[in-house]
Amino acid sequence: MCEKIRNREKFPHVFIENFVQQVANNKIPVEQVEEWLRAVYEFGLHDDAKIALTKSMMESGEIITWEDAGINRDFVVDKHSTGGVGDKMSIMLAPALAACGLYVPMLAGRGLGHTGGTIDKLEAIPGFSTDINPKRMKEIVLDVGCCIAAQSSIIAPADAILYAVRDVTGTVASIPLITASIISKKAAEGISSLVLDVKTGIAAFMQSEGAAIELAKSMVDAANGLGVNTIAQVTTMNSPIGNKVGNSLEILESVKVLNGEGPLDTIELVSLQGGALLHMTGKSTTIEEGKMMIREVLSDGSALECFRKMCVSQGVEDDIANKLCTEPEKILPCSSKKTVLYSSKSGFISKLNAMTFAKIACELGAGRQKLGDVINHGVGLEFNHCLGDEINEGDAWLIVHHDNNLNSEKIEILDGWGSLSSLNLKE
Ligand code: URA
Repeated sequence: MCEKIRNREKFPHVFIENFVQQVANNKIPVEQVEEWLRAVYEFGLHDDAKIALTKSMMESGEIITWEDAGINRDFVVDKHSTGGVGDKMSIMLAPALAACGLYVPMLAGRGLGHTGGTIDKLEAIPGFSTDINPKRMKEIVLDVGCCIAAQSSIIAPADAILYAVRDVTGTVASIPLITASIISKKAAEGISSLVLDVKTGIAAFMQSEGAAIELAKSMVDAANGLGVNTIAQVTTMNSPIGNKVGNSLEILESVKVLNGEGPLDTIELVSLQGGALLHMTGKSTTIEEGKMMIREVLSDGSALECFRKMCVSQGVEDDIANKLCTEPEKILPCSSKKTVLYSSKSGFISKLNAMTFAKIACELGAGRQKLGDVINHGVGLEFNHCLGDEINEGDAWLIVHHDNNLNSEKIEILDGWGSLSSLNLKE
């Protein structure tokens, strides 16, 4: 098969099916897996072979079914984001969609590198368990409307094995391999509709818009090929989303949005993704109407109630869940120190470099620099001003939540209006 891939020849799908099965059963020498991955990385795959790969990876593990749980699959949906700084959308979106009558069995990942993972953020909530098997996930989805669990070896096990080999062979950044990895896991949730948020910009997985569009098209093609009605939204990832970056801080901000408050960019992204899914499932006649429905459940408390119930179903004690919804700062872990930075100039914020802020948050302990690092949920960055905001000399503009002392190098990077962030100065 490798020779045919290198020659860009077509080959029977059964070759891929057998290969993936052998990978999942650990029946193939790792050198052969490496050779196969290198061939795909270098020469790509024809569209039909990519779909066959995605399908075989999906079928390598359990596929969740919904009809047997009394749920109409037409209303079972999910979203995937390629990852951004401050990207906390799932935490609000899943309960908001549940409040609109959809079912969301969301499998999410942990963060590695500069973007945080939804699972790490949720684990900031005392008692919240993300180790949920498919049977329990179905019960929670039937009862509450949504459940967010960590990916496990039960779903698409071939992906975990292939991903580990991709990681050490430098073959992660391959569009067909990324496509099959992401879509196989989403399709195994048994969903009928999917929205993909493909980020582009300095802090995105795909930095150029062209590459983001190429990945978006590839994933839409594979998901549709597996019978999952899918659209992609390509959105920018140059500045952090919302005002808070860090695990507890992002839960805090999500609860704010679920209480009908919070930053406008965050509300807009949640309603854009939710509006599309409501439209795709026929719950709304247009995306615009779907967006309005999401805004409505965010402001009338019904999305917050679904979030509270999801927390309780996933192990959070009742009184803690109640308090989380009203006074989250009293429940969530916080850092031992806060350092406030004051602006040295006046102007309008024209740039907040998401990548540099993310690296600093990661160094403070909010993310993992390598696999196995322990996350510090309390640390992070809190912006008092957003992009475009006016700021005056002496204004407190950034609060750094930290446990270890901030070294002068970090303060200098954070404090300066230079390459990290910039101001259009007032005359
Ligand atoms: N996320 C995944 O799950 N798989 C990839 O290949 C890349 C990002």
